[in-house]
Amino acid sequence: MKLFLLSVAAMLLVLAESSAERILSRRTKRDLSNPLHVGGIRDPHGSYCERRGGCCPGRDDICTVPYLDTICYCDLFCNRTISDCCPDFWGHCLGIQPPFIGTCERNGNTFFSGQTYRENCNLCTCGTTGRWECDQNACLMDQDIIYSVNRGNYGWKAGNYSQLYGMTLDEGIRFRLGTQRPSRTIMNMNEIQMNMDPEAERLPSYFNSTEKWPGKIHEPLDQGNCAASWAFSTAAVASDRISIQSMGHMTPQLSPQNLISCDTRNQGGCAGGRIDGAWWYLRRRGVVTEDCYPYQSPLEAPAEVGRCMMQSRSVGRGKRQATQRCPNTHNYHNDIYQSTPPYRLSSNEKEIMKEIMDNGPVQAIMEVHEDFFVYKSGIYKHTDVSFTKPPQYRKHGTHSIRITGWGEERNYDGSSKKYWIAANSWGKNWGENGFFRIARGDNECEIETFVIGVWGRITMEDMHKHHHQHRRRHI
Ligand SMILES: *[C@@H]1O[C@H](CO)[C@@H](O)[C@H](O)[C@H]1NC(C)=O
Ligand SMILES: *[C@@H]1O[C@H](CO)[C@@H](O)[C@H](O)[C@H]1NC(C)=O
Ligand SMILES: *[C@@H]1O[C@H](CO)[C@@H](O)[C@H](O)[C@H]1NC(C)=O
Repeated sequence: MKLFLLSVAAMLLVLAESSAERILSRRTKRDLSNPLHVGGIRDPHGSYCERRGGCCPGRDDICTVPYLDTICYCDLFCNRTISDCCPDFWGHCLGIQPPFIGTCERNGNTFFSGQTYRENCNLCTCGTTGRWECDQNACLMDQDIIYSVNRGNYGWKAGNYSQLYGMTLDEGIRFRLGTQRPSRTIMNMNEIQMNMDPEAERLPSYFNSTEKWPGKIHEPLDQGNCAASWAFSTAAVASDRISIQSMGHMTPQLSPQNLISCDTRNQGGCAGGRIDGAWWYLRRRGVVTEDCYPYQSPLEAPAEVGRCMMQSRSVGRGKRQATQRCPNTHNYHNDIYQSTPPYRLSSNEKEIMKEIMDNGPVQAIMEVHEDFFVYKSGIYKHTDVSFTKPPQYRKHGTHSIRITGWGEERNYDGSSKKYWIAANSWGKNWGENGFFRIARGDNECEIETFVIGVWGRITMEDMHKHHHQHRRRHI
């Protein structure tokens, strides 16, 4: 009888493997519940599965017996988690000795094998040999990087961001950046010729768009876990440029969501996209404001884009009009904002500076390395603190940002460190109120490689219309 049961069980086990594998992708309450051995409960002897009248094949979440003040399982799936099996499961259902349950120590507490805890981005499991076995992922908020940067003399300081804590470096690169490197054709796009002699032109040692154009430079937004910096940097630069160019008659904060959800041709939404595609859309279709079409940070599925809820149609003379109401039902201003074609600047530092000073913030592509995520203040330069670590700790991905100004910081030895002031899209709580400073003139992280300027499409009519709207509201 026993032999017979054993062979049936072994066969069922094989069957159970594959179906359990399939079911495993759906996480149930059972998967998430605490193992039975919490609090030092060890298997009291007795018959459980036997008294129940037998064991169940495969996964069967109702194949349980009361056990102390909880339940235990008699289905073959319980074997996967060890700790939710009934005490007589091994003997009665499988005809073997129960596995040795090791214990692990942590903070003076005892844990049993199968129990887990989270250490930053890694899950640690108490193994059957009584040792904690932890995943070996590189974490985004890496304690070693933070410590080494702050102890070293790198010219910038690192911090631990709770909103990024617990993510792996891979996830940071996958979800927090999101600009594809422009294709070779786009990279070879002609640079505009500037009427300037970069050597002779005198430029101030410090320039800050926010000070020159108060109320027209938009605050950094937060892309959350959506790799759409392509949409955020484009919308931000266009917003600033339209505000400056219209002399403050319009100061729209343009909607990244409008681009993410509607500019979907050859674009990846929250899985990354191209800035040339974003500019094409802004020029040919236009977008509404952030207030009209608010950003919806994806919580569950980071790559989800959402249905496009704003379209426009031509009303002649190159202008367009929204064909839908604002997705935000409290907002009635569904004006469409457009740009002219973007233009490429040279990688010459002085030319970039002149462009910012004359026309406003520019868009730039940059390579984000592992240590950038913990940037807190100062003048960023990619450091060597991870150079001795294995390759999975040294990664980078392409991002796009908005450069809004520049400056210089004097060192004690009399030399000076030149920097760009740039806005990121990781919220105002990151870096210097959402901004960062980065070394200027050395193409740090390739930030001077591909720089873009643009004009808003603004007519005299726009200026009057918006001016009146503005006035009316205040009367
Ligand atoms: C499940 O049971 C089989 C057969 O007894 C055993 O070899 C395997 O190690 C068990 N798996 C776990 C996770 O305990
Ligand atoms: C970083 O922040 C997280 C959550 O905010 C915290 O649990 C962790 O201990 C912090 N790490 C360091 C090194 O401060
Ligand atoms: C730029 O100007 C704003 C507004 O005055 C200020 O808050 C910010 O600190 C300045 N940035 C730098 C890097 O000086």
